[in-house]
Amino acid sequence: MKRVVVAGCGSMAQEWVRYAKERTDVEIVALVDVVEAAARAFAAKQGLDVPLFRELGEAIRATGADLVFDVTIPAAHELIATTALEAGCDVLSEKPLADSMEAAGRLVRLAGERGRQYAIMQNRRYDRRIRAFRQLLAEGRVGTVGMLTADFYIGAHFGGFRDVMASPLILDMAIHTFDAARFISGADPVAVYCHEFNPPGSWYAEGASAVALFEMSDGSVFSYRGSWCAEGANTSWESSWRAVGSGGTAIWDGVGVPWYETPVEAEPMPFIRDAVRGELADGELEWSGREGHFGCLDEMFAALAEGRPAETDGRDNIRSLAMVFGAIESARRRERVELSEWY
Ligand SMILES: NC(=O)c1ccc[n+]([C@@H]2O[C@H](COP(=O)([O-])OP(=O)(O)OC[C@H]3O[C@@H](n4cnc5c(N)ncnc54)[C@H](O)[C@@H]3O)[C@@H](O)[C@H]2O)c1
Repeated sequence: MKRVVVAGCGSMAQEWVRYAKERTDVEIVALVDVVEAAARAFAAKQGLDVPLFRELGEAIRATGADLVFDVTIPAAHELIATTALEAGCDVLSEKPLADSMEAAGRLVRLAGERGRQYAIMQNRRYDRRIRAFRQLLAEGRVGTVGMLTADFYIGAHFGGFRDVMASPLILDMAIHTFDAARFISGADPVAVYCHEFNPPGSWYAEGASAVALFEMSDGSVFSYRGSWCAEGANTSWESSWRAVGSGGTAIWDGVGVPWYETPVEAEPMPFIRDAVRGELADGELEWSGREGHFGCLDEMFAALAEGRPAETDGRDNIRSLAMVFGAIESARRRERVELSEWY
């Protein structure tokens, strides 16, 4: 039985608690929030009759917890995870791993030293269609991929902290897309050039749009174009993807089933070859795990039980985070930034 403290009683914590309640091997033993009223309201809403704390260390000592769900704000992740790891707990955390590369490095090192599980929520990896897209490319159906592109265009009126923060798109959203690019390609980032800007009509204080170009470890290029103030003709939240390979092109619009086109052999070579469309048949979508948060949490708990790193272990996830902070640094310096030394 895992004895869990939930740190952070905000909106995302509801999903984590819903998951925990479903498991018979998990008991929530305490709630922690710096805002006492938030913890009280959350406990009442969730029907949780557990002690409430304002500080995590105290909660762990009082309850003998061995697992912490970190669902606090990004700026608190380092404090929460450090406290939990030093107290001998495993940690499952919401994204982003940390609010700086330095903090992320410290956390990943600490988890390694203590031999504890430290895994990050990347719920958008847990999706049958992204797994099918990845599988299609891994099977070489379009040859060797040299170029991967993602377009993200959503006009989101959040009306909260995102409207006034720096780099809202890259910091708060692109971590999902960048992590997906690593997941789809199986490659890691080597360098980035990014231009971040606030286009006419933006209702954000700054940085609502960005164009970034990543050189990847397999020699391929990943390009990202994104905007959070693009109204009309929106893409999905998963982005719209294109992978151009040596033997064709694969498409995933983030909504439907991925598909691809391969050129038809012709003699003599025409100016432009015809292409035939390939589809993934239903049975070829091999992945049968659950989607979203529940899928990622299933994987995290399986990793805990099997004593292995989770797919989204901090040591892996720091590479996705390097894409975020590397892009911001590049935009600030208006220069190409090498990333291989960042993780
Ligand atoms: N995976 C996703 O798709 C997704 C979606 C939304 C948010 N998130 C992430 O989830 C996390 C929480 O986001 P949210 O929307 O629930 O935020 P929120 O503001 O609704 O809730 C955060 C809670 O943490 C508490 N808190 C802050 N500092 C604390 C500390 N030091 N100790 C204890 N409690 C503390 C706050 O008082 C608040 O109640 C963030 O990291 C965010 O990026 C992920």
